[in-house]
Amino acid sequence: MSDYDDMTARIRALCEGETDEVALMATLACELHQSDDRFDWTGFYRVVGPELLKIGPYQGGHGCLVIPFARGVCGAAARTRQTQLVADVEDFPGHIACSSSTRSEIVLPVLGKDDRLIGVLDIDSNQPDAFDQRDADVLAGLLKDIFGHL
Ligand code: SME
Repeated sequence: MSDYDDMTARIRALCEGETDEVALMATLACELHQSDDRFDWTGFYRVVGPELLKIGPYQGGHGCLVIPFARGVCGAAARTRQTQLVADVEDFPGHIACSSSTRSEIVLPVLGKDDRLIGVLDIDSNQPDAFDQRDADVLAGLLKDIFGHL
């Protein structure tokens, strides 16, 4: 389980003053992935066109390259701009399985200034029901601090 206080303080320090979205995503993917043994795939999908996501910086096995907003947990987070907390990926209609070992998932929208949708943060776990509301709240606050002014 993450020591969220240490991890978020470290990430904020590393990202201080940086405005390049890819550099920020790469830093978050690295630090988040290494911080918690629940996180088996940690990465971003970026909005690259109308209703279209493309893979960004990530840690873990290969992820699918392109996701339309109409598909998957990532598409649902992009479409609704709401965090998707998925206790069992088998129960999520249209879940895209980049790995057969994934059991649960959390996907959060990444929003910039003026509510601009930059992309989504996707974290997969091989553990069932690995994520809870505290994870959602801490990660959403971190994303707002890092990307909310861009
Ligand atoms: N599971 C995601 C797809 C991304 S791979 O897990 C990295 C989804 O259903 O959108």
